[in-house]
Amino acid sequence: MFFHDYAIQALAPHLPLSPGAIGALLETPPDRVLGDIAFPCYGLAQKWRKAPASIATELATKLDLTSPLAGATAVGPYVNLRLDRPAAGKLLLEHVLAKPDAWGGSGEGEGCTVCIDFCSPNVARPLHLGHLRSTVIGKALSRLYATLGYRVVRINFLGDWGTQFGKLIAGWKRWGDQSKVQDDPIAELVRVYVRFHAEAKTAPALEAEGRAWFKRLEAGDREARALWEWIREQSLAGFAKTLTLLDVEFDSYAGEAFYHDKNQAVVDLLEARGLLVESEGAKVVELEGMPPCLILKSDGATLYETRDIAAAMHRQATYRPARSLYVVDSGQSLHFRQVFAVIERLGEPWAGNLEHVGFGVMRVGGKRLRTRAGEVVYLDDVLAQAIALAREELELRSPGMDGAEEIARSIGVGAVIFNDLRQHRLHDIDFDPDEAISFDGETGPYVQYAHARCRNVLRRAGLAPGEVEAPADPVLAGEPEWALLSAMAAFPAAVQTAVRRNEPHVLARVLLDTAKALSRFYHDCPVLKAGEGARQARLALVAATAVTLRRGLWMLGLEAPLMRAD
Ligand code: ARG
Repeated sequence: MFFHDYAIQALAPHLPLSPGAIGALLETPPDRVLGDIAFPCYGLAQKWRKAPASIATELATKLDLTSPLAGATAVGPYVNLRLDRPAAGKLLLEHVLAKPDAWGGSGEGEGCTVCIDFCSPNVARPLHLGHLRSTVIGKALSRLYATLGYRVVRINFLGDWGTQFGKLIAGWKRWGDQSKVQDDPIAELVRVYVRFHAEAKTAPALEAEGRAWFKRLEAGDREARALWEWIREQSLAGFAKTLTLLDVEFDSYAGEAFYHDKNQAVVDLLEARGLLVESEGAKVVELEGMPPCLILKSDGATLYETRDIAAAMHRQATYRPARSLYVVDSGQSLHFRQVFAVIERLGEPWAGNLEHVGFGVMRVGGKRLRTRAGEVVYLDDVLAQAIALAREELELRSPGMDGAEEIARSIGVGAVIFNDLRQHRLHDIDFDPDEAISFDGETGPYVQYAHARCRNVLRRAGLAPGEVEAPADPVLAGEPEWALLSAMAAFPAAVQTAVRRNEPHVLARVLLDTAKALSRFYHDCPVLKAGEGARQARLALVAATAVTLRRGLWMLGLEAPLMRAD
């Protein structure tokens, strides 16, 4: 909470704890009557050999309080601090409105790089809901880290190498239909791949043909290479449509193929350190508490694991990241545990900077997605459906709105994104289109609508959002006003916690709380029709809310469209 800094300042001189440690202990009292910020004294009891309650009593009298802190009382084992609300409100409004583009940000990550591996689909396969989650979470994390001053390297580690490309080439040469590629390249490549598998069951020679093509590809054969490049380009063009809709960009598309000539160095290093062990013809690294990590197949081919190790080393050498995140579904957690453990066994000091940011399964209306046969949920269909529903909803609310098409897109896509990010990332989530698109529930459209409402109030007052200043003496005495202020005050800490835990939902929660507090404020407190003093203060409050929601939406990867809203 924004006001926590003041509490930390007051407490720090009396405690054997760092400001950060104090901040982590601060709580909100269960009843606002008790105070606004609580510091629990349990942790000090052992060290000081005193009862927590007597520590609290002693601390409460010793604290040197400066505005906006107005009082300290001991309640059981807690020291409760009370804020002078008008002073606190003024401080917050001044802070937000003086530098709106810095609100919630900091320079704590300056000089540090973070690599974020996300999206990372397999070439010639459709993007599925796992990739959607990875893309949505990865994009939010990249913006959150950037907000705290980190240099962010967004990496799309394409699955563009492996024996399946030999099969694809073999299949394409037999049954590929150039004319169908234009419309939907990935669908056509999938058709070829599926047919290859079906026919290979009765014609084993096909498998050998596929293997031969992959060998040629690995050896740098011109025809094989050209076909592979073409397949990759076509797939990327297909992905680009979806990625544009989701408004994501990457700094690197170095995928598995990029590492195909860097695997040998990994194998050599493991060999030199005596870590490679022969097992049923394959080469593996044995690990404690988990199955061995496969490095080379019996035919000498490298694996997904090998390429991930090569990639981690290359990223380390190229970017020197302080943290390296892999936003990939939790189903791959063993893979990452193995890869990280191999790097640790190599004695690399940076092994501890690698982190698998896993997530649960996404279902659409209760259905889980299957990739091979069966119903495939295409990501494009999910987005298209959300956009269509948003268009209907808008037409219902304000028929014939200007720019409805664009707004429907940002609301539809926003609904999908927010539905994901409002939940714990490790949980399995469900996408119910009607629920996610609703303007009333805990949804993206609800937050976007709250933002648009603020902007409309400002517009009607004849103010541009950057023009509003905090009044010298804001009259913000009411409960709904304070509730809105304190919801917003949680914003900077939410950004920090979201980064520390790689959990964007912490921020989504604060945006929902702020939007809800705004509804209540809006219902209870007139703005434009209020008396002069209250009007100015409330306009400043509305402007600060608009800043908070706009920035928060941006960090989560949503747009903040302006639309008719009253
Ligand atoms: N291509 C993989 C898939 O679609 C995900 C890759 C994730 N990133 C990584 N560095 N392994 O399942």
